[in-house]
Amino acid sequence: MASVTSLTASVHQRLAAALSAALPENADADPLLRRSDRADFQANGILALAKKAKANPRELATTVVERVENGGLIKDVEVSGPGFLNITVTDRAITENLAARAADGERLGVPYAQDAGTTVIDYAQPNVAKEMHVGHLRSAVIGDAVVQILEFTGETVVRRHHIGDWGTQFGMLIQYLIEHPHELDHEGGEVSGEEAMSNLNRLYKDSRALFDSDEEFKTRARRRVVDLQAGDAETLALWQKFVDESKIYFYSVFDKLDMEIRDPDVVGESGYNDMLEETCRLLEESGVAVRSEGALCVFFDDVKGPDGKPVPLIVQKSDGGYGYAATDLSAIRDRVFSLKADTLLYVVDARQSLHFKMVFETARRAGWLNDGTKAEQLAFGTVLGKDGKPFKTREGETVRLVDLLDEAIDRATAVVREKAGKVGLSEEEIVENGRYVGIGAVKYADLSTSAVRDYKFDLDQMVSLNGDTSVYLQYAYARIQSILRKAGDARPAAHPELELAPAERALGLHLDQFGELLLDVAQSHEPHKLAAYLYQLASHLTTFYDQCQVLSDANAPEVVENRLFLVDLTARTLHRGMALLGIRTPERL
Ligand code: ARG
Repeated sequence: MASVTSLTASVHQRLAAALSAALPENADADPLLRRSDRADFQANGILALAKKAKANPRELATTVVERVENGGLIKDVEVSGPGFLNITVTDRAITENLAARAADGERLGVPYAQDAGTTVIDYAQPNVAKEMHVGHLRSAVIGDAVVQILEFTGETVVRRHHIGDWGTQFGMLIQYLIEHPHELDHEGGEVSGEEAMSNLNRLYKDSRALFDSDEEFKTRARRRVVDLQAGDAETLALWQKFVDESKIYFYSVFDKLDMEIRDPDVVGESGYNDMLEETCRLLEESGVAVRSEGALCVFFDDVKGPDGKPVPLIVQKSDGGYGYAATDLSAIRDRVFSLKADTLLYVVDARQSLHFKMVFETARRAGWLNDGTKAEQLAFGTVLGKDGKPFKTREGETVRLVDLLDEAIDRATAVVREKAGKVGLSEEEIVENGRYVGIGAVKYADLSTSAVRDYKFDLDQMVSLNGDTSVYLQYAYARIQSILRKAGDARPAAHPELELAPAERALGLHLDQFGELLLDVAQSHEPHKLAAYLYQLASHLTTFYDQCQVLSDANAPEVVENRLFLVDLTARTLHRGMALLGIRTPERL
């Protein structure tokens, strides 16, 4: 993704451009400029270039040093080793660059992506009449971060919550409700999310028991499925009741997660019912799908069962029923042709990877996906318990999401309370911060490891004040706010004429990378890189505190101002970055 070069191209980008311009004419080479321990940057690209041109690398490097335009950027450059360049930039360049970022309001100098398009993202997709579990949590958290990041870089994003709201189980549920009316009536007005879910659980259990024990009920339930599929009005109205009751529950969980899910974006499996027949017809007419033992199937050379026989994607069952695949294929047509997406993202459990591989390949064969319109599954791994096994309660049941979030909030509140006296927090603030810290901890743990890896759900570690946790970042932010409050009349102001201490340079150069980093994160759909960046930022800040006093009488006033400027920009960057991950940064903690 090429970025729009703006006033606030990073020092790194400006230096890379200056070096590229100093290379021999027509040398289409990357100077391979990296941060380095020896100087600020090291350029390694001249070696490869010299090899290609059969030139002496050290000589070539010396020529580049002679030709490079300084532009006030370079303080020192030397040829080292076989032909590397070690480059130190001027303090002025760093401070001026940061000042331009600081002057850019909310965007902090982050450019818009040049080739922004339209992405449809499928995430946060629980199932009607069922509990949400940790897998649904991961999809929601990762999906929400990707949405925020993409929108920030100028992408048009359409959200789709592909909830599981269709299937034969509804025959049983609806029939039971017909025979036991009033079960979902709410006399006392509104119900809470918890009540809604417990109503649904009870209905599910009771109807299941009847279904398994009463043959006649079973027959009536099966007939009800046919009515539902035929669009019978009374049956549909009852089905809608289940959907609405479930949504009360879903929204209560998303609310607890401090996440906005908008109703029009909830387009569940049922939303594609009208397209299923045509999808099958198109696939069959084009020969992409073929009839096999009555079912409409798509075959793949590389998808075989343990017996070596090909395992097809079944688009329509032999009894005429449509399943998960037909719905997903119809959703692709809708997203590509009606919503005009050029990128389709699916934040779904890695255990569904084979399904998506087959669905995407089918859509490609049908011409719905191609080089200009791509689909990608952002597959995520399994959440494990401390024992390294899939996360379950001690009784072996799936952990209820709400319980888990409540526990995280409890633990976090205890951590906040311990420090609250020193900061002078009111009880109300303790409760609010406890929520932000607890939910932040859960989200951050999920977002700070590469999505596809399994991760251990360990609340003790998640709310720890030391290490790679959201609380550590939240405290870094709050500490800066406290310094800014204590600064009295001194205001943050950049002083490019000042010499910077090593810790200030390191912090400054890292801050300066924010824009580039974000564009990279948006393009690769990897929020964990943003989490890593923010953690490093907070670590640079810690080193800076160790080595540089901000508010000290020994400092000249402009040093105080410049340091306030540095920490203020750090706070704003932390705040923006955390917000993009869906995590709050309380002002006082
Ligand atoms: N509801 C599904 C589940 O709970 C996830 C849906 C994923 N999205 C999709 N388009 N198939 O596993």
